[in-house]
Amino acid sequence: MSNEEAEPSEIDTCHVSVMPDEVVYWVANPEVATTPPKVVIDGTYGGGGHSRLLLKAISDDGARVIGLDRDPAVSARVASETHDPRLTVFLASYEQAAKALDQFDLTTADAMVLDLGLSSDQLADRERGFSYTVDGPLDLRFDPENGVPASRWLAQHDEKQIADAIYQYGEERFSRRIARAIVAKQRERQPISTVNELVEICRRCVPRSRNHDIHPATRTFQALRIAVNDELGILERTLRDAPDWIAPGGRMVIISFHSLEDRIVKNAFRDDDRWEVLTKKPLRPSESEVAHNPRSRSAKLRVARRR
Ligand SMILES: C[S@@+](CC[C@H](N)C(=O)[O-])C[C@H]1O[C@@H](n2cnc3c(N)ncnc32)[C@H](O)[C@@H]1O
Repeated sequence: MSNEEAEPSEIDTCHVSVMPDEVVYWVANPEVATTPPKVVIDGTYGGGGHSRLLLKAISDDGARVIGLDRDPAVSARVASETHDPRLTVFLASYEQAAKALDQFDLTTADAMVLDLGLSSDQLADRERGFSYTVDGPLDLRFDPENGVPASRWLAQHDEKQIADAIYQYGEERFSRRIARAIVAKQRERQPISTVNELVEICRRCVPRSRNHDIHPATRTFQALRIAVNDELGILERTLRDAPDWIAPGGRMVIISFHSLEDRIVKNAFRDDDRWEVLTKKPLRPSESEVAHNPRSRSAKLRVARRR
């Protein structure tokens, strides 16, 4: 069996990368990259799809891709795979990109890619609580070895804080009702510890949408995931610090799936003189990509170049 034939079965992921051609274009196409990129950071390695494409697009001559992911399941999977020697994946938040560069005695990268949110592998994992369609512990952490699971987060916050998080991060109109029901259940000494317990509360509190297009628990689960992982805080701090670790001319390519994330990216690129915005409006996946990969439908891609 040739290497090409062996490769797909060696890579154990069900995640389909979003906007793959666009990511490769903004990182490596000579129209954008005046000099071929040598050091690329894939800050959200996930199933490694973007990294594999980037490895094909960059030169063989001393170039490297540095992958980062907060999820220990990702680094365990990478350790069991045969992969390109130009790739190194660290178990770390993308906020730690400068430390990862330091491991190679580097201070800057020529491009950084962030593909925010969660992967299909995480959604499929019954132990993580990411999917409201599969019962399991209500965890929702990207890194189950650090921080607190969503069940404990709910026990540690009061009704107003829970309602505010569900409203702000989930844009859920019925956030107050949901928070009240969660706290009432906890007062009866019944902490919410499983996915199904929270789904049941959402079903009771959220009227079914007229066209039934969104599950009553969707927004609440999204909000708790964002809160438990401090997703917006990490994104803000990274955008503040990234100009220090992206080389002049280097690109920051960010795919977001949530309006709050997209706003943070848009404002950070616009308000910091060190960035030149290359995408005036966010790029969206093509119709054929959305038909192929429905998960891509809410993706927005923005790019800025370090001046
Ligand atoms: C949408 S997936 C990335 C998929 C990947 N681009 C691909 O093509 O296979 C997002 C990944 O980002 C990771 N992640 C989320 N927050 C992170 C953070 N602060 N630092 C590093 N990785 C993070 C998640 O664990 C998940 O594996």
